[in-house]
Amino acid sequence: MHILLTGGAGYIATHTCLQLLAAGHTAVIVDNFVNSKPEAVRRTEELAGKKVELIEADVADRAAMEAVFSAHHFDAVIHFAGLKAVGESVEQPLRYYRNNLDTTLTLCETMAAHGCKRLVFSSSATVYGVPDKVPLREDMFCKGCTNPYGWTKYMIEKILQGVCNADPEWSVVLLRYFNPIGAHESGRIGENPNGIPNNLMPYITAVAAGRLSHLNVYGNDYKTHDGTGVRDYLHVMDLADGHVAACDYAMAHSGCEIINLGTGIGYSVLDIVNAFERVNGIKVPYVIGPRRAGDVDMVYADPEKAKRLLGWSAKRNLDDMCRDSWRWQKNNPNGYEA
Ligand code: UD1
Repeated sequence: MHILLTGGAGYIATHTCLQLLAAGHTAVIVDNFVNSKPEAVRRTEELAGKKVELIEADVADRAAMEAVFSAHHFDAVIHFAGLKAVGESVEQPLRYYRNNLDTTLTLCETMAAHGCKRLVFSSSATVYGVPDKVPLREDMFCKGCTNPYGWTKYMIEKILQGVCNADPEWSVVLLRYFNPIGAHESGRIGENPNGIPNNLMPYITAVAAGRLSHLNVYGNDYKTHDGTGVRDYLHVMDLADGHVAACDYAMAHSGCEIINLGTGIGYSVLDIVNAFERVNGIKVPYVIGPRRAGDVDMVYADPEKAKRLLGWSAKRNLDDMCRDSWRWQKNNPNGYEA
């Protein structure tokens, strides 16, 4: 298959690109580098031993996208491009709605005009909002999101469902990611957040590297086995394999499917800290602090539908995730900066 990856220089996208190339597919990347580096793509090519066409453009730029689709015949598109920082989305809602919705609308209009109607979309477990119960199933009613970032994912899911309802030639897979961590086992590509990390694992690796003094654990009075928040962490390479399976599925089916990508296992913040320390032999000092606004006690997936429809399930365990996250950080203290 010949596949377009929007936002293809990002964390999940580069790992997916690698697995697509390994499976014998070809890839074109469009990225505006607002939160990524060309170096990530260069290293992906190096790991794959294959070339990828890299186009610097904004997915909301209609003329640029028209040129991309005129130059290529894509079998499918994976739409990763989007702004993704929860806190920032609360401060800059218009920017988030404008960017995430415009890119999707322009992409889909261009796809339709060129007869390319197979799409895999990066959605998020954030669309479940504050869940009534776990594990989370795709057919559960979503009562509403807790921030504009989440709402953009929710709205895009609705837009894509509408597109499929209107035109049966479309095939869309909405992948609801749980909490991706880890990195490729080479330690050459990984997550490269700007500034102080918001998410747990990048924060832990920054503390382990000595760039931050300690981890703030956001609350230990949740209704969980040790009081700290429980999430469904999955290895980014498993997540990447899930995208390859989703592309295969989109080629063979039509309509719109929502599919969770998670392990089905919940780990607490302290489970992650303890595993990281044990696997890597490094101390991660932490301080228990107040809860973070908007956090919930427990989020984990029911991964049965992914297994049934895609034949996918996570293979890598928490030790793999902790080891690979640290190898990436240790080998690249400045991320993709030299
Ligand atoms: C967050 C986003 C979610 C997004 C996901 C991307 C919120 C409310 N949700 O999920 O929309 O899709 O990131 O991966 O922000 N924690 C600490 N100390 C820290 C950082 C985190 O204790 O410094 C705890 C949190 O309270 C939580 C767990 O670690 O219990 C995971 O947090 P995080 O990595 O930010 O992910 P989520 O909040 O699950």
